[in-house]
Amino acid sequence: MIFTFGHTKGGVGKSTIALNFAIERIRAGVDVLLVDGDHRQTSLSKAIAIRNESGLMPAVPCIVLDDARALRQQVALLRPKYQDILIDVGGKDSSALRAALTVTDVLILPVAPESVELWAIDDLLEVINEAQSVHSFRVLALLNRAKPTGRDNEETRALIAEYDALTMLGPSLGQRSVFGSAFGRGQSVVEYRPTNAKAIAEFRAVMHAVFAFSATLS
Ligand SMILES: Nc1ncnc2c1ncn2[C@@H]1O[C@H](COP(=O)(O)OP(=O)(O)O)[C@@H](O)[C@H]1O
Ligand SMILES: [Mg+2]
Repeated sequence: MIFTFGHTKGGVGKSTIALNFAIERIRAGVDVLLVDGDHRQTSLSKAIAIRNESGLMPAVPCIVLDDARALRQQVALLRPKYQDILIDVGGKDSSALRAALTVTDVLILPVAPESVELWAIDDLLEVINEAQSVHSFRVLALLNRAKPTGRDNEETRALIAEYDALTMLGPSLGQRSVFGSAFGRGQSVVEYRPTNAKAIAEFRAVMHAVFAFSATLS
């Protein structure tokens, strides 16, 4: 199955979540290819390079496909060779996102509980609608950097639920600095030490929900 971690906006957590998914799927024995499709800041490839230099196992196969056409063609070619292909696309420039949406099965859309994020959704829906007219895929919105208190999380969930094209994922990821610390070492939050039990539990719940949802598609 092909998963794209995308948004028309940067800084929402696409690369962070893609890295965690890739590592944890590989640790679960799944044959995974990670694709870094962000030509501006190849932060994902850097995290993988740090992981490789530290000799941490398992190794994570990662290729950079920062040209929209190459991304579409290569992913289509590699699809039969992997159980999961996880594509991280950059924000702002939507050509990689558009290319990924021509091949993806599921778009995972990280959204923060902030109103500025929600304004960006209209832009994004335009890209999604256009892509849906040529290739069908599902969109899973994932609340990232959820707040520990207040009503913002629930308000964001309610707003997302109003869009027919989007499915809101039940579990969410909290605002936790361990996500950045682990990424800087090329690790998932599950591998990172000292252990952050809350982050691990949240991430596992998110992964479980995403794959339970995908299982209903095939
Ligand atoms: N759940 C989270 N809690 C805390 N920081 C986060 C979380 N998710 C992402 N971040 C941080 O937000 C910043 C942007 O994340 P990144 O994954 O690079 O976003 P994108 O790929 O969408 O541009 C990074 O500094 C990252 O460590
Ligand atoms: Mg990124």
